[in-house]
Amino acid sequence: MNEIRRVAVVGAGQMGSGIAEVFARAGLDTIVCEHDPAALRAARTRIDHSLHRAVDRGRINPTNRADIWAHLLFADDLEALADRQLVVEAVVEDERVKTDVLATLDKILADDHAVLATNTSAIPLTRLGIATGRASHVLGLHFFNPAPVMPLVELVSSLHTESTVLDRVERFTRDVLGKRVIRSRDRAGFVVNALLIPYLLSAIRMAEAGHASPEDIDAGMVHGCAHPMGPLQLADLIGLDTVEAIAKSLYDEYKEPLHAPPPLLSRMVEAGHLGRKTGRGFHPHGGV
Ligand code: 3HC
Repeated sequence: MNEIRRVAVVGAGQMGSGIAEVFARAGLDTIVCEHDPAALRAARTRIDHSLHRAVDRGRINPTNRADIWAHLLFADDLEALADRQLVVEAVVEDERVKTDVLATLDKILADDHAVLATNTSAIPLTRLGIATGRASHVLGLHFFNPAPVMPLVELVSSLHTESTVLDRVERFTRDVLGKRVIRSRDRAGFVVNALLIPYLLSAIRMAEAGHASPEDIDAGMVHGCAHPMGPLQLADLIGLDTVEAIAKSLYDEYKEPLHAPPPLLSRMVEAGHLGRKTGRGFHPHGGV
């Protein structure tokens, strides 16, 4: 089987652009596919900021930065991805949208061995896989935000994923991308979100009840437990719409009250207060 060199990311939001940056930094020929021109522009800016920051920190030099850009191509049509060996979809956390993208990609990819990966945080993979004609080559590759910084990737198999395909993608993720891989079965939330989301929801309920202020809840976990950021800052970083969507997937799967989105979270999402990406969340500046 050929080494994976030609990759793509579909969806250029916060996660998609971060994953594309990880691929380009690893020297892979990377296409970022996004049909919304404004989102594509924002993705370029996000990657540019991140690479500037890496230069400022002495992690890469300016020549590397130009080289990384040379590995990135931008497209607005899925047809451009026909020769890819691995495509990661990172579109909005909506099962219908993800299913459509994966089913279309399945028809476009020329190589029968090409792998379709989804960055879904919580949608069961088996359902996404059977929407394609290659369920054996569909798996979950779940990156963490910010993707260029966080070392972990969850590798998720459905009941249909072939073990040789999983092994190949695990080697690629570990050896080429340099990420720490953990494996999970196809259960909503996989490992990390199944543990993280109830914690974030508890913090939101605590703020909603007036038990403590958002600042003190966050300070408690940063200074009392040495977390890099507090739960409400982290919810702002992830995006409150994404936190709510994952909570709903977990609730659908397990029917546990601890996964039910608290009313405050739903009201904030309805109001468009989504955290860092809209500049307003639990913290007025979006938790920066
Ligand atoms: N993009 C790229 N690089 C970034 C970045 C960004 N948005 N934010 C920070 N960085 C880099 C910095 O350049 C720096 O790199 P260096 O170590 O190579 O010099 C490093 O990250 C540390 O940055 P700072 O010193 O400026 O800032 P902090 O020390 O405050 O760290 C943080 C920022 C890395 C975001 C840290 O606060 C953190 O780890 N927070 C927790 C993040 C987390 O838990 N993420 C997982 C969310 S759950 C998820 O994604 C799953 C999904 O399904 C919901």
